[in-house]
Amino acid sequence: MEELLDRNLLVVTGKGGVGKSTMSAALGLLAAREGRRTIVVEVGDESRLASLFGIAPPAPGVETRLEEHLSTISIDPDRALLEWLQVLGGRVSGRLLASSGTFQYFAAAAPGARELVSMVKVWQLTKGVRRRGAGYDLVVLDAPATGHALGLLASPQTFGAIARVGPIAGQTRHVRDLLEDPERTAYLAVALPTEMAVTEALELQDGLERQLERSLTAVIVNGLLPRRFTTAELSRLAALEVSGREGAVIQAATRAAQAVHERARLQHNQLARLRRRSFEVLAVPFVWSPQLELAGVREIAQRLARKV
Ligand SMILES: Nc1ncnc2c1ncn2[C@@H]1O[C@H](COP(=O)(O)OP(=O)(O)OP(=O)(O)O)[C@@H](O)[C@H]1O
Ligand SMILES: [Mg+2]
Repeated sequence: MEELLDRNLLVVTGKGGVGKSTMSAALGLLAAREGRRTIVVEVGDESRLASLFGIAPPAPGVETRLEEHLSTISIDPDRALLEWLQVLGGRVSGRLLASSGTFQYFAAAAPGARELVSMVKVWQLTKGVRRRGAGYDLVVLDAPATGHALGLLASPQTFGAIARVGPIAGQTRHVRDLLEDPERTAYLAVALPTEMAVTEALELQDGLERQLERSLTAVIVNGLLPRRFTTAELSRLAALEVSGREGAVIQAATRAAQAVHERARLQHNQLARLRRRSFEVLAVPFVWSPQLELAGVREIAQRLARKV
């Protein structure tokens, strides 16, 4: 685990809404703090990370500095494919291409093309390492949710099969080499500590094995509740006298405490389930704040720092 941040690419994925972007930001902060030139890549047509840093969201494809050693960029797969087709098509204007129907036709006829062109961009960002001085030491890919992420990662196989020659063939090979290389790329699943989310992380593991012969480097279990009570304390709570003026309120508080304890217990069972399957587990607590802002993400980075 120590070498997690020594890779060139961290792919962060998991079910929708489990904290992929939050963890990507936290890992980015951590790497940057250690002096690694880091970029967090979002996939989609908007950049949400910049807003977290109080910076106006840049246009897709624009590298934006967030703080020392830390930048962000968003890659819009449609736009990336359009640009790529434009290069192929020489002087055909982007607007013409986009409106001509050719684009939609091509995108539909070439499964994996959008995804592959996006992954080529990711690979280009990691390439800086070799060029010495230019580019980034670490690229954190805030990937889409599991199924789509697997689509991105499989794109060299899906689209590569149709593109065996020309520049795209070479780029396809580079992307595939990067994704298959355990020294350069690590895969992280983010899961909430619920049965369903953990099951999805296990499915991701199967997909990675099937597609790339790779395994999850770690599972980040996000939003864990602390276990605040010992068994003895719980028994005492259960035995509390609940008569008198404060009786009702004590009873309500006791029930709430027991419910939270039970929930935490179930969550920790899911941690155990992952550990039984020999996964490296990074536990991140639920951070209580009305809205998780930069301070909260820094707190999470701090937690992760003790483990990676
Ligand atoms: N450990 C945590 N404690 C408290 N809130 C959290 C924690 N992790 C994430 N959140 C909050 O949960 C919400 C979802 O997180 P985030 O946007 O990172 O998820 P995501 O997996 O990237 O979602 P999407 O699939 O929509 O991209 C956000 O409001 C975030 O602030
Ligand atoms: Mg997200």
